[in-house]
Amino acid sequence: MPKAPYSISDSSKGKLDGLVDRIEADQGDLINLREFEERQQSLDVRQVIRTLPEGLDEDDLAGILHLALLTECATDIYVNEISSRARDFNSTWLERFNENVWKPDEYMHAEPFKRVLLALGCSEAELDREIEETQAREFEHVGGDSPIHVTTFGMVQEYLTDHWHGLISRLLRPSMPEAAAMTARIKQRARH
Ligand SMILES: [Fe+2]
Repeated sequence: MPKAPYSISDSSKGKLDGLVDRIEADQGDLINLREFEERQQSLDVRQVIRTLPEGLDEDDLAGILHLALLTECATDIYVNEISSRARDFNSTWLERFNENVWKPDEYMHAEPFKRVLLALGCSEAELDREIEETQAREFEHVGGDSPIHVTTFGMVQEYLTDHWHGLISRLLRPSMPEAAAMTARIKQRARH
């Protein structure tokens, strides 16, 4: 892989590793799937159609949730792309953050969308097939390879998906507060 021009002083690298040390030591609350199971019991999907904004129907809602589910299910692809670039540039802080902090949290992000789709009547086998198909796709990263490029890419991607989750949570809140809480939950980990 051609290396982008990138250099960082030893003291800056030490500061970044120290920052990851602190995050690793206090990771915030990871999602507990049991919490979702309890909430899933009380989802009332009949109410949701009644409260959708004008111009949005049940199919639109399913499409919105599908987009979130399939965007969130491909964690390993992103993890591998970012970690291999972190290793190329000897950026231990980036690889450690990616593997030890971001990955375990990210693994949980598809779950609420899957559970709401199941409550809407989607077939689990069909959802699993779509997830598998998405995970098998090749991700072509064209946004640059240095740690600055990939952290910027990650930050923008996370900002966008986080905002999307917030919009979904707002959409579900009047009719399915439990589903809204599940969706909002994936935005709540950060303490740092
Ligand atoms: Fe995510």
